[in-house]
Amino acid sequence: MPLLRIPGLIDAHVHLREPGSTHKEDFYTGSRAALAGGFTFVLDMPNNAVPILTEKLLEEKITLAREKALCDVRFYFGTNGKNIEEFEKVSDKPEVFGLKLYCNHTTGEMLVENPDLLEKVFAGWKSAKPILVHAEGEQLVTALRLAEKHKRRIHVCHISQASEVELVRQAKIKKQKVTAGATPHHLFLTKDAIIKMKGYAMVKPPLGTEADQDALWTGLKDGTIDIVETDHAPHTRAEKEKNPPAFGVPGLETALGLMYKAVKDGRITHDDVIKFLYTNPKAIFNVPDQPDTYVEMDPELAYIVPQSGFETKCDWSPFAGMTLYGKPQSVVLRGRRVL
Ligand code: DOR
Ligand code: ZN
Repeated sequence: MPLLRIPGLIDAHVHLREPGSTHKEDFYTGSRAALAGGFTFVLDMPNNAVPILTEKLLEEKITLAREKALCDVRFYFGTNGKNIEEFEKVSDKPEVFGLKLYCNHTTGEMLVENPDLLEKVFAGWKSAKPILVHAEGEQLVTALRLAEKHKRRIHVCHISQASEVELVRQAKIKKQKVTAGATPHHLFLTKDAIIKMKGYAMVKPPLGTEADQDALWTGLKDGTIDIVETDHAPHTRAEKEKNPPAFGVPGLETALGLMYKAVKDGRITHDDVIKFLYTNPKAIFNVPDQPDTYVEMDPELAYIVPQSGFETKCDWSPFAGMTLYGKPQSVVLRGRRVL
């Protein structure tokens, strides 16, 4: 059978760890992982070892990516609620695709919980580019309310609980400008994975129940959840085995295969795969065209996720041993073969 050609995919949520934590990933290894997974455009999060809270730090990061990345990498700016004056210096830059706001505790030093500071962030980000929130449970209620009040576009990252899917569904019914993403790990693993995988299954937001997982699939099918975003968050094996473990799992190299597994299992269609990994992220984040860019693979061809041998520097996967479909066999970026 001839190979199927699909667009270069877009991952709106990755942590490539440079600068500051290049022992677990850098722009070279992270972009190789992206290409191996069929992604030609990724949006990198600001929770670096030194968080990206100033224009200067952002510019340094942009330069590093330009020197080392093999696929297109663009950025979100970060906030701790106290760098509002930086917003207008960065929000119009073509490399910036939104503002990331952490309303719950996770990797990095950017938590904003205080209601006054949250209000300042929503009031202060005057750009049409979205505010991306890590907001679980009650914090999501607050974030949606503030976005509505200040008329800001909001993207709810890695939605994980059935109740959160319902909050977004209701906001969309009210015509609020909200979009949402789900990760492959929340779609394919439940908290039962922690028994077997221990620290390797520890992520933020935490893995949910089967009922939560069903709600995510329903949300994808009914348009409540717009995109699949990997939240590629590499940590070394040692960091995952210590107590407490680092939060996060790598995801760039397995996302497409998992989505074609979902097609095989009859949950979604091929058109859905393209919608969640290309069309919708492109529209939401206003991703520019990448001319003459495509991925070739056979969505019927099964493969087993190995234990190691990945492009990501952390070199493990929470999906090891699973049978997936449609591994990219070649990737062409702007007319040049890159995989
Ligand atoms: O599991 C996670 N890991 N969740 C996050 O929000 C951050 C990420 C990381 O940077 O490690
Ligand atoms: Zn993340």
